[in-house]
Amino acid sequence: VKIIIVGSTGTVGKAVTQALKNEHDIIHVAHTQGDYRVDITDENSIKKMFNDIGHFDALISTTGQVHFGLLKEFDHEKWQVGLQSKLMGQINLVSHGLKYINKNGSFTLTTGILSDEPIVYGVAASMVNGAINAFVKAAAIEMENGVRINAISPTLIKESAKNYGPFFKGFIPVDAATAAQAYVKSVEGKNTGKIYTVY
Ligand SMILES: NC(=O)c1ccc[n+]([C@@H]2O[C@H](COP(=O)([O-])OP(=O)(O)OC[C@H]3O[C@@H](n4cnc5c(N)ncnc54)[C@H](OP(=O)(O)O)[C@@H]3O)[C@@H](O)[C@H]2O)c1
Repeated sequence: VKIIIVGSTGTVGKAVTQALKNEHDIIHVAHTQGDYRVDITDENSIKKMFNDIGHFDALISTTGQVHFGLLKEFDHEKWQVGLQSKLMGQINLVSHGLKYINKNGSFTLTTGILSDEPIVYGVAASMVNGAINAFVKAAAIEMENGVRINAISPTLIKESAKNYGPFFKGFIPVDAATAAQAYVKSVEGKNTGKIYTVY
């Protein structure tokens, strides 16, 4: 099937691409490279991407940024990073993608363990992940034509542990390839409204 992977050049995205590329037609989308480029913080850029690509069977999002920092140091701008990128960026991929998704298609978004297991510096990530999980459950009941929507919530990815490991004391990282299998389940299975945890 025709699968758009937004964030296909990233740590998670590369592993998801690897897991799906032999059996599917993958359309690579990222910010600075790929078959198509998009800025998920810009709704017009998302609309243009769908207009350029046209109809598709599955959209996987492995992108979205949040600001990491202490709660007492957050200001309006720092909250906006996660709200505009990881949260609204992914929500807009769904709401605009609805016009182009084929019957029985699927959306798969990315959240993360911090909604369940908070860490110091991770308050914005916890907030945004929780919001996406709730969005996915609510959006699932409004999908039409057999379209499904799920989220994947990975723990710390082993390949990223050198950057973030010190903040995740006691968390056991998983390989990106292991996390990628949850995306395969979401695309190839029949569940909807499900948060697949990988931890
Ligand atoms: N890594 C982890 O340990 C981990 C654990 C749990 C959850 N997650 C979540 O998984 C997702 C991916 O993480 P990652 O570590 O794979 O990230 P990453 O390696 O930094 O990759 C990010 C991807 O998103 C693209 N991107 C960046 N800004 C964008 C924008 N404004 N519009 C469209 N695409 C943009 C990048 O494209 P370019 O290469 O062109 O910039 C790249 O393909 C994030 O939501 C993250 O919170 C990650």
